[in-house]
This record gives sequence, C-alpha cells and structure tokens, in this order.
Amino acid sequence: MRAIVAAPDTPEGFRLTEVPNPVPGPGQVLVEVRHAAVNAGEIRHLGVFPAGSVLGHDAAGYVARGATDGSGPREGERVVAFGAGAWARLAVFDVDSVAVVPAVVDLAEVAALPMVGLTALRTLRTSGALLGRRVLITGASGGVGRVAVQLARHGGAYVVAAVGSAARGAGLAALGADEVVVGLDAITDPVDVVLETVGGPSLVTAWGLLAPGGVLHSIGWASGEPAAFPVNSTFAPGPARTLRSFGDATAAGPDLAVLADLVARGVLRAPVGWRGSWQRLGEAADALRGRRVAGKVVLDLD
Ligand SMILES: NC(=O)c1ccc[n+]([C@@H]2O[C@H](COP(=O)([O-])OP(=O)(O)OC[C@H]3O[C@@H](n4cnc5c(N)ncnc54)[C@H](OP(=O)(O)O)[C@@H]3O)[C@@H](O)[C@H]2O)c1
Repeated sequence: MRAIVAAPDTPEGFRLTEVPNPVPGPGQVLVEVRHAAVNAGEIRHLGVFPAGSVLGHDAAGYVARGATDGSGPREGERVVAFGAGAWARLAVFDVDSVAVVPAVVDLAEVAALPMVGLTALRTLRTSGALLGRRVLITGASGGVGRVAVQLARHGGAYVVAAVGSAARGAGLAALGADEVVVGLDAITDPVDVVLETVGGPSLVTAWGLLAPGGVLHSIGWASGEPAAFPVNSTFAPGPARTLRSFGDATAAGPDLAVLADLVARGVLRAPVGWRGSWQRLGEAADALRGRRVAGKVVLDLD
C-alpha cells in the first residue's frame, strides 16, 4: 500500500512510498483511510520518528475489517480515528480509539479533529465550570485554538483569543471569541483558565494573568522559545493557581464520538485551513511552519 513514512535522508524528512499492509491484532480495526490531518508536532519534530515508520495520527475513512472479537465498528462503517500510522491507505487502530461518524458529517472535516479536538475538549473539561468564566486561548489561530475557542464559548465562557497578528485573528470572532487580541500585553483583567499553546514568553505572561484559583494548561510550545519565570512569580497568597501539563490522547474513541456529534449538531466547525492531495504534503508542511494555515491541514488520500 501507499503511505507517507519518515525519511531522514530527504530534505523534507518524509516520503510517499510503498510499504507492507498493516495487520490488525486483537481488539484492533483496519481502516481504509480517505482523509488524514497534519499536526504541528508531526512536522516540527519529524526527526523523532524512526526511518520508514508510517507517520500521522489523525484519520477518517471506512472500516475495512472489524475487530476479530466483534467489538467496535463493523466493516463498511464511516469512522474517525486516532493512532500512530494514519497517513496510509490502510491503518490499524485500537477499537477504543475509533468512533463512528454521523451520516451528516463530512469525513474530510472530521479528520481534522482528533488530536486538536481531544486536546481542547479534555483540557476544558478539567478546568471546572466554564459558565461566566474568562478563558484565555493563546495561539488561537492554530488547530487547537480554533477548536478551543468554539468549545469554550459553547461551555458559556467569556473567550479571549490571542494571536500573533491581526490577520491571524481573522474568523475567530465568528467562531465565538468575545475578544481577539494581538499578543497578551493588552489584556488587563485576570483570566480564570488558560489554554496555552505557544510556550516561552507567552507562557510566562499568561501565568501572570491567571486569577487566584485559576488553572493554566501548558499544551504546547509552538514558539520553541524558553520560558524564564520572574523570581517569586509562582508565589502568591490566597487560593492556589495551577499549572497543568497535557498529553493524554489515550482511549480517544468516546471523545471522538463527542466531537463528531458536536459537528453533527452544528456546535463545532472543523477548523480546516488547508486541504489538498497527500502528494502535496511538502507544500502543506511549509504553510504550517510559516504560520499561513488558519487551523488544520487535511490531506486527501487520492
Ligand atoms: N500536549 C499535547 O498533547 C498537544 C496536543 C496538540 C498540540 N500540541 C502542541 O500545541 C501547539 C499548538 O498546536 P496546534 O496544532 O494548534 O499548532 P498550530 O496549528 O501550528 O498553531 C500554533 C499557533 O501558535 C502560534 N505561534 C506562535 N509562535 C509561533 C512560532 N514561532 N511558530 C509557529 N507557531 C507559532 C501561531 O499563531 P500566530 O501565527 O497567530 O502567532 C500558530 O497558529 C503545538 O506546539 C503542538 O505541538 C500539544
């Protein structure tokens, strides 16, 4: 079958090539992938993947073979899935990391959601009640940000979306941002929750904006810059402020079903900012690295 694999010997770091078909084990389904999404980390950290390994984690398509124990979706069902090896004609996923897609939801759109949707959903869920609380989302122009803005607004929060330039803020108000700010300097009122995806100075400044009792989720480090916290900035009297790491994409299936249902009900719009053939991955990766994609890259496995 055709697949995109890690290729450290090429300038891009990947290649579209022939590889053996994957073989599902017990409790796994074989999926014929029609659309796959590209995550920022998969492009920025290509070097961590062993040469020849099939890349990608986000996919949508049709079940080609159900699990032998009868669990999970059946052959022919439309599914969205999360797991290693997604950028391939055929991919194997654990049954608990797959969800059936409602008929009204487009497979190319739902393919954009696994990694970023799980991240936004799970961090917001562990933030306590959102109704009437101020939620700051940094890197809001990106994939995680564009989902998080919508879900936070749906949860009743007052949403502050921070971006790198006015142009990168386009479309965020329509998605539910109450304020779109360029950088964090203009924010004066404390925030109760932060979804922080930029890292470096953004993380430090966002921490300083956190209200007593608030929670900051350190999701990503898109800037690649180090963070230097001023002395005593983690000390404050009163209710504790919390800094949480995030990296839990396990047993994704039930939450993928939640995300697909939110799309079906018109609550969530998949943030597809670039869509094209998987043969154009190099072009898409350049656009992602150059911060020219408003949300996600979705590849068609044509
Ligand atoms: N912990 C986890 O499990 C998890 C899950 C998903 C993602 N992540 C990480 O979270 C971060 C965001 O993910 P994403 O999918 O939303 O990425 P993305 O689509 O690339 O968005 C990242 C945003 O960060 C901003 N940014 C600021 N400085 C940047 C720089 N030097 N280079 C690139 N972007 C910069 C950009 O906004 P402006 O152009 O508006 O400045 C960009 O839109 C990434 O670091 C990713 O690896 C972690």
